[in-house]
Amino acid sequence: MTDTSRASIILGITGGVAAYKAAELARLWVKAGHAVQAVMTEAATHFIGTATLQALTGRPVLTELWGGTASGMDHIHASRQADLIVVAPASADFMARLAQGRADDLLATLCLARACPLLLAPAMNREMWANPATQRNLAQLIEDGVRIVGPDAGEQACGETGPGRMSEPRTIFDAVEVMLSVGLLAGRKVLITAGPTYEPIDPVRGITNLSSGKMGYALAAAAREAGAEVALVSGPTALATPAGVTRTNVTTADEMYEAVMERIGGQDVFISVAAVADYRPAESGAQKIKKSEQPLTLNLLPTRDILASVAALPGAPFCVGFAAETERLLEHAEAKRRKKRVPMLVANLAQHALGADAAELLVLDDRGSHRLPGADKLTQARRVIAHLAQLLN
Ligand code: CTP
Repeated sequence: MTDTSRASIILGITGGVAAYKAAELARLWVKAGHAVQAVMTEAATHFIGTATLQALTGRPVLTELWGGTASGMDHIHASRQADLIVVAPASADFMARLAQGRADDLLATLCLARACPLLLAPAMNREMWANPATQRNLAQLIEDGVRIVGPDAGEQACGETGPGRMSEPRTIFDAVEVMLSVGLLAGRKVLITAGPTYEPIDPVRGITNLSSGKMGYALAAAAREAGAEVALVSGPTALATPAGVTRTNVTTADEMYEAVMERIGGQDVFISVAAVADYRPAESGAQKIKKSEQPLTLNLLPTRDILASVAALPGAPFCVGFAAETERLLEHAEAKRRKKRVPMLVANLAQHALGADAAELLVLDDRGSHRLPGADKLTQARRVIAHLAQLLN
């Protein structure tokens, strides 16, 4: 599987109050474009109805080991088609059965027969979680390569407070996106520009733009998650450097150009997210410009186009451009992609995207245009990386 935006996920639900949160998890996945097959244990059906999961996933929920398809091989079929199995909530009993390699219901059998990664989101009373038997099973499962997310500490359905609450659906969703993208860019070197540039007019004034840098930083994080070695060349932002990413700070378009050209050798991918100033003041004085009654004319010179320069290098890396447009998005963005000669360009409407936390994107490549429906920037960044990995590989 190379496209994280279309994964096939088995959502296992075991008996526990947190089972209601599995519905929200299914909803998030379906919204993100994943195919979800819900599989419930008998105990789970006492906490949440199969009709809810069936409606959210658009598929009948599997519950029975016996009486499914004519061949009686539901467990093998379902697990072979899956990219990932996630059990949320995973009860203490289910963890115990899994640790022993039992196959006494459909979900346990699926987990045993799987050929894909397995992620558990445990949920139980805090004493059950702390019990040496559960901790022993947990250690065994981790040793067997099973991934675990949570549990969180907090108020529990039983009225007690402590560790054992199932992680929030959004946390599980993020953990899954990371698991799906692992290795997509393994061994690749990726250079990313991000943020605005700032072109000084005098020591206290300058020309800049509304770019926050969030998209570039999210892409750096997503590329890193996907296994790439990531270097970020960043204009002025207030953002923290994503873990494992090397960052070089620059101020002006000229500095950004130099920093990129210095580092471009040996890169596999160049992602140009920065909102680079197209013009800079012809000269910037060492002293403040004093106010007068006369009109003031600023003489502006064009800056160098970093993306086009990189794309024109002999043996250029795979280049991804961004385009912020205020109108006729597809037309302008495709013209920009051709003019800058880049294989992939991500376009958005500037008035919706600049500084915002969520945005709809359009990805353009030689095959046409692909819509990435509105989502937060990290989710969008992961989709862009998945798309890029597909073209690259
Ligand atoms: N870009 C660049 N260097 C510049 C200007 C833009 O590398 N001096 C890159 C941006 O990082 C982005 C792409 O080019 O990936 C498109 O940027 P955008 O500002 O949308 O386009 P421009 O080429 O500046 O065209 P216009 O402002 O006329 O829309």
